[in-house]
Amino acid sequence: MKRETIAIHSGYDVDPTTKSAAVPIYQTVAYEFDSADHGAALFNLETEGYRYSRISNPTTAVLERRVAALEGGLEALCVASGQAAINYAVLNVTELGVNIVSVPQLYGTTHTLFAHVLPRQGVTVKLAESDHPEAIEKLIDEKTRAVFCESVGNPAGNICDIESLARIAHAHGVPLIVDNTVATPILLRPIEYGADVVVHSLTKFMGGHGTTLGGVIVDSGRFPWKQHAGKFPMFSQPDPSYHGLVYTEHFKEAAYIARCRSVYQRTTGAVLAPLSAFLLLQGIETVALRVERHVENGRKVAEFLRDDPRVAWVNYAGFPDSPYHALSQKYFDDRACSLMTFGIKGGFEAAKNFYDALKLIKRLVNLGDAKSLSCHPASTTHRQMSAEEQIKAGVSPETVRLSIGIEHIDDIIADLDQALERCR
Ligand SMILES: Cc1ncc(COP(=O)(O)O)c(C=O)c1O
Repeated sequence: MKRETIAIHSGYDVDPTTKSAAVPIYQTVAYEFDSADHGAALFNLETEGYRYSRISNPTTAVLERRVAALEGGLEALCVASGQAAINYAVLNVTELGVNIVSVPQLYGTTHTLFAHVLPRQGVTVKLAESDHPEAIEKLIDEKTRAVFCESVGNPAGNICDIESLARIAHAHGVPLIVDNTVATPILLRPIEYGADVVVHSLTKFMGGHGTTLGGVIVDSGRFPWKQHAGKFPMFSQPDPSYHGLVYTEHFKEAAYIARCRSVYQRTTGAVLAPLSAFLLLQGIETVALRVERHVENGRKVAEFLRDDPRVAWVNYAGFPDSPYHALSQKYFDDRACSLMTFGIKGGFEAAKNFYDALKLIKRLVNLGDAKSLSCHPASTTHRQMSAEEQIKAGVSPETVRLSIGIEHIDDIIADLDQALERCR
């Protein structure tokens, strides 16, 4: 099926009891066993079924199958937020004393997780000088266990060369983990270019209405964990936390998600609520249509800003003079994302005045909503970074980030115009 159809139908077989056409919300914590033997078989993973909603839930399972299908992956695990997804995705391939290598253009809280939280748990994150594949490869050593990037950096708007990064990661026997939140699988499917694991904040374009936090980890099922057992013993050696289970034996190519679920989701519990899974499914039904309009409106706004004498610069990968234009053509068929940054003549003070003057476009820290949103990263999402780190992440003091929504373009531009006028 095409992505538009997958977004509406995949992963749900009509409930045989009720024939409900919409995905039912299974608001339950636990599931009855037929007998003691049935319960034991479920816990032994000898039979399929549900036990307890911290591990799996039928509503959430539909969302997991749907996003896995949208991304062209094998399996998925939904969790409570995008941050939980990134944390689990990395923890699942690391242990004390190893490292991962990442591009520097990251969402602020991911940067905090990488620079300050994971290192205290014994996992070092080496942040490269740039997103250039050579800069990444330079940092990979025998202790490296993954390469990480955002396919489109938030807010930098850089586009990572997924194919080259995957080739480099694989040459060193490690997986490539891609945060595909800003791009969405409607614009880009990293697995088609060699990525092994894709994570999302479903909170953004996928849910699309700014109502529901959620995250997902999608596994391609293609990384040869067994072949690299020296680096990833957790998949091919008996797991003492699950009575000696060997994930690659029991789950074969689905070992990654199975371990993520039974080790991290089960024991640390960043669970997505069934109602949230339902709301995210509602959003995903229209993601293809919405993204199309986001992209169209984004281009019109970028062109308006570029042509406006009150604006100093616009960072938008859809312009031919963008350093990312070639990658935008290759990976996005020139449909650049609706997330962009720009600077106003007059620097920080002018940016502040512009921001305060917005009427329709909301001042907040979110992106990918049907509504147009604006954010001042230096004082909010990227505040924890040093000035130097901010610059590497694509943030300067005057940078305003826009996430262009799906309102009528005339109304979006009218608001930008009046705010630019008021800030002079
Ligand atoms: C690219 C990216 N990844 C991950 C996250 C974290 O997602 P959540 O807020 O769902 O934890 C965000 C949030 O803005 C993001 O922009």
